[in-house]
Amino acid sequence: MPEDLAAVKRRIEELRAEIRKHDHYYYVLNQPLISDAEYDRLFRELQELEEKYPQFVTPDSPTQRVGAPPAEEFRPVRHAIPMLSLQNCFSEEEFLEWDRRVRRLLGGRQPVYICEPKLDGLSVELVYENGVLTVGSTRGDGYVGEDVTRNLRTIRQIPLRLLPLNGKAPRLLEVRGEVYMEKEAFRRLNREREEKGEPLFANPRNAAAGSLRQLDPGITARRPLKAFFYALGRAEGITIRSQEELLAILSKLGFPVNPLWKRCESPEEAIAFYHELLERRDELPYEADGVVVKVNDFSQREALGEVSRAPRWAIAFKFPAEEATTRVLDIVVQVGRTGALTPVAILEPVEVSGVTVSRATLHNEDEVKRKDVRIGDWVVVRRAGEVIPEVVKSIPERRTGKEREFRMPDRCPVCGGPVVRPPGEVIHRCENLSCPARIKEAIRHFASRRAADIEGLGEKLVDQLVDKGLVRRISDLYHLTKQQLASLERIGEKSAQNLLEQLERSKGMSLARLIYALGIRYVGEHIAEVLAERFGSIDELARASYEELVGIPEIGPRIAQSIVDFFASQGNRRLIEELKAVGIDPRAQRPPEKGPLAGKAFLFTGRLSGMTRQEAKRLVESLGGKVASSVSRKVDYVVVGEDPGSKLDRARALGITTLSEEEFKELVGR
Ligand code: IVH
Repeated sequence: MPEDLAAVKRRIEELRAEIRKHDHYYYVLNQPLISDAEYDRLFRELQELEEKYPQFVTPDSPTQRVGAPPAEEFRPVRHAIPMLSLQNCFSEEEFLEWDRRVRRLLGGRQPVYICEPKLDGLSVELVYENGVLTVGSTRGDGYVGEDVTRNLRTIRQIPLRLLPLNGKAPRLLEVRGEVYMEKEAFRRLNREREEKGEPLFANPRNAAAGSLRQLDPGITARRPLKAFFYALGRAEGITIRSQEELLAILSKLGFPVNPLWKRCESPEEAIAFYHELLERRDELPYEADGVVVKVNDFSQREALGEVSRAPRWAIAFKFPAEEATTRVLDIVVQVGRTGALTPVAILEPVEVSGVTVSRATLHNEDEVKRKDVRIGDWVVVRRAGEVIPEVVKSIPERRTGKEREFRMPDRCPVCGGPVVRPPGEVIHRCENLSCPARIKEAIRHFASRRAADIEGLGEKLVDQLVDKGLVRRISDLYHLTKQQLASLERIGEKSAQNLLEQLERSKGMSLARLIYALGIRYVGEHIAEVLAERFGSIDELARASYEELVGIPEIGPRIAQSIVDFFASQGNRRLIEELKAVGIDPRAQRPPEKGPLAGKAFLFTGRLSGMTRQEAKRLVESLGGKVASSVSRKVDYVVVGEDPGSKLDRARALGITTLSEEEFKELVGR
């Protein structure tokens, strides 16, 4: 055999061994060592090699069967009609290719497609004889599954007897669907397990699988499992001609059917549905890993048939994976603007939801310990929605013994200053106020879009400015010269000029932006607005006492203390003076301090009939009063509209005066 062919054969055997091992961990032990995406990659590489070199295909290859053998504890159940798997595709091109093949095989006709969310759970089959549930089984290897009837019976959504259809039940009906756990239920379950010191489930799918494959149905019953049904095995005494009809009949028979399906008359419509669902993915209560596109008409399905144990008439159009496995090359410590030390995992770059990830947060030292993440470990990283990537868990099974444990340093990695962890807190902090890392972060925050909004003052530039000693404090930004800027790397005269213009423009920022830009701990944009409106200038705010601050409806003790501490610092007071010296001293439009409602706080609950909330708010403020957004003892009046919410109960419990809309109007003289 030529050398290169021998190499191909070796790779094929290597892949098979690897896949077999993972099948065992995944299907039999319910304890995957790698993510689905990584597994898919291995599987696809093997499939592609076998397609190219059919002479190496053997009957025992993992591609030649649907799954792995069932675990031993449950009675095996043979599926009368095998439970096939689905072909996958990962791009629009691949999907369109599938559509073209389908049309070609149907003699050029465009079939109607039914698109459904692809739930990430585990598939089951339920057998109903004369309308009564007799056997429920897992998919197993597609041919033989496990008898989990007793466990499935504990899932309340699953009918034990079918609702009558035209007064009678079909002789035989085999229904297939997916058992799953909702994301919220999964999080709750893991929290409970953590409290009891039990091992955590890696994801909702594993939690569902682990719950269904319990020898004691009493345990399954206590797990919040749900199900959706979408496919058929044998059916006698009932005729069903299409997917659309099937979904309607299943609903009528009493099965939960996912309402998010869509009839599509073209591949473009199916692609649009895919994008729609992908966008809503995070809002869905369950995990969906793609869209299943199915030919609607059953006679067309028959004409299409199947290949290598997957039907030609359906395809799973997969979403980008949100989780991936990779290695932790190092754990570094990042210092934020408040001095907080955050451990960050430096990763071997890996693609997650379509983005290359090379760093992931570990939050704090306790999290590193809880997840037992070590340098050199294989870990699962996750990037869902817009959140920053995080390390979900380590995979201790893949350790070699060379991994190193992480320890939080007792000196700041940037300035060498002392690090403290106040009792009762999880965060370590660098105490040095002039630590360059803190300064850089403070400047980045000051310049950010929702703060001073200084375009062009990016991360790299801030690094250079601080490292070169050109900027030591925020106010130094406003003394930079064109020559200084142009002397830096990667900055031309043009961009130096632009930056100076941006800095000049930023001097006109609003008071609320300035307060937010200062980076006072716990003071976000909303609180900054409240403070700007209440105090009108930065000097007034700086003079505010703790009592005065804590008297403002939205401000609690923690925020009040943080503001007082901020202005108590000499350095911060000097910063305010320096900013004023360059012309930054905005004033807020102040509501009248005097007025019939001065010092009174109002809260609205329910719908008003004579005016909008916004109008009511302005009315109160124009008379010197305040409007609070939550119930507390600082609220003087609760105005009750139609359909009031729970705020009313709380207000009553606190003994706060309530006003009807009429009484409110009277009070404000309307
Ligand atoms: S149809 C012959 N519809 O995906 C194909 N499957 O990779 C029958 N799945 O084993 C399956 N949601 O566990 C179908 N709406 C859906 C699905 C779905 C999830 C799972 C199912 C199946 C696997 C195939």
